[in-house]
Amino acid sequence: MPLFSGFITCFVLIVTCIHLAGRIDRAIQIRRFKQRHGCLPPPRQCHKDPVLGLDGLQSIFKVFREYRFLPWAQSKYCSLGNTFQTSILLSTDICTIEPENVKTVLAVKFKDFDLGEKRRQALHPFLGDGIFTSDGPQWEHSRTLLRPSFVRTQIVATNMHERHIQKMIEMIPRDGSTVDLQELFFKLTLDTSTEFLFGESVDCLSQSTAASANFAYHFNQAQDISSVRMILGPFAPLAMTSKSRESVRKAREFVDGFVKKAIDYRKTVDSEKGTDEPANASTRYVFLHELAKQTSNTTELTDAILNILLAGRDTTASLLSMVFYVLARRPDVWNTLRGEVSTLDGQCPSFEQLKQMKYLSWVINETLRLYPVVPTNGRTANADTFLPLGGGPDGKSPVFVAKGQRVNYDVYVMHRRHDIYGPDAEEFRPERWETIRPGWGFLPFNGGPRICLGQQFALTEASYTIVRILQAFKGITSRDSEPWQETLALTLASRHGTKVVMEPV
Ligand code: HEM
Repeated sequence: MPLFSGFITCFVLIVTCIHLAGRIDRAIQIRRFKQRHGCLPPPRQCHKDPVLGLDGLQSIFKVFREYRFLPWAQSKYCSLGNTFQTSILLSTDICTIEPENVKTVLAVKFKDFDLGEKRRQALHPFLGDGIFTSDGPQWEHSRTLLRPSFVRTQIVATNMHERHIQKMIEMIPRDGSTVDLQELFFKLTLDTSTEFLFGESVDCLSQSTAASANFAYHFNQAQDISSVRMILGPFAPLAMTSKSRESVRKAREFVDGFVKKAIDYRKTVDSEKGTDEPANASTRYVFLHELAKQTSNTTELTDAILNILLAGRDTTASLLSMVFYVLARRPDVWNTLRGEVSTLDGQCPSFEQLKQMKYLSWVINETLRLYPVVPTNGRTANADTFLPLGGGPDGKSPVFVAKGQRVNYDVYVMHRRHDIYGPDAEEFRPERWETIRPGWGFLPFNGGPRICLGQQFALTEASYTIVRILQAFKGITSRDSEPWQETLALTLASRHGTKVVMEPV
């Protein structure tokens, strides 16, 4: 027995020594790396609980519940500087609003950073192995699969959009009663996205079929549960109830049906004409048909489509809701915009005409600046690396980022920096875009190799919708006396919606 316990003690000692030696070796490696690159630590956010930072976690939950996470994040940067570190639950994240750092993470050292396991775990049950859940070669594969299908989208977007926007305009009351435009925009973008992707709209703006209405319901549920899982991080599995599993299954089944049809369609077209039929303007563009040129793997196609649906639906709806939220409070901006729109004489704008509408693009930029659809984001280092700025007392030294460490970048706060946008940075002033060129300081669509694939599509869709509404209504008045509050899920929305009264022409 004493021999056995002596053996155990020896074993424990050896394991401890090996572990310690590993730790020391790692510490030396890190020290050398920091010295080589001149890295200094950024300011640290102090917590009352210095070990687990539980008070920090509590604050995050509190501000989330009170719909003020974004202003709270802004106040942290005000007191700690443009780059700082914060430790919660034994993990130390770096937070930054330094454009050079964001550029480093997303472009210059793109290969050193991944989306991170947290995002993959949260979104995988719903989105599978798509562009939003993958890194490395798998992401490259997804992006290569999707990119060619986006090439023509900006041209066809306006034709396909008109029918749906007219339906939405019909639903806006003309008798002075209040309407929540945000609700209508979320329906509109689900209708346009499904038509663009599947070739058939779920038509939530009008009498949709039971199958379509069901899909809209389950898709919304699956999306909500995915955002809850993102917030819960390691506790994400707790959020997966049998009801949410059912929603994920039903939403995926609905898309599967279209995928199978698209594969059959491709087989027929290919056997009749070959794969290279020219896409002319009169051919109805269906994203899924384009995608099915490249693969006939059902799971891969369903994953890809669900990822695009998630990427494209709420984002554009959120932008439109915020544009009209602002317009309802700013008659000066509304009138200037109507002046520009009047040059079209009530006609549908072409893609080229939309591109030439300068003030409209400024209004959209200014909305995306103050209310970025993806207001906070982050990446996880997959190797020891460093950021160029934020370390040391003056914040000018590089900052070490250890393998596995998270770098969060807060676009909402960066877009309100006075040294980038001027002392009136908090003000909505579209005219600033006449002269300002903020580079990486303006990042609504992300940057680098993972820049938003749907940027052109979204801007065209949003511009077209704004123009058509301004042609149909001569006035807008806010019917919401609450101050603006965020709803933060996978994307940003207005908690109180966009409640307005519209005055027809
Ligand atoms: C106003 C509208 C939109 C905004 C502000 C926006 C913004 C963004 C942002 C910030 C990202 C980066 C997310 C990240 O990597 O963490 C992104 C990625 C992406 N967006 Fe958009 N988006 C919009 C509309 C759309 C639309 C309409 C589509 C498609 C129809 C789309 C497709 C995508 C795709 C596929 C990616 C993933 C790119 C990749 O990881 O390689 N987006 N978008």
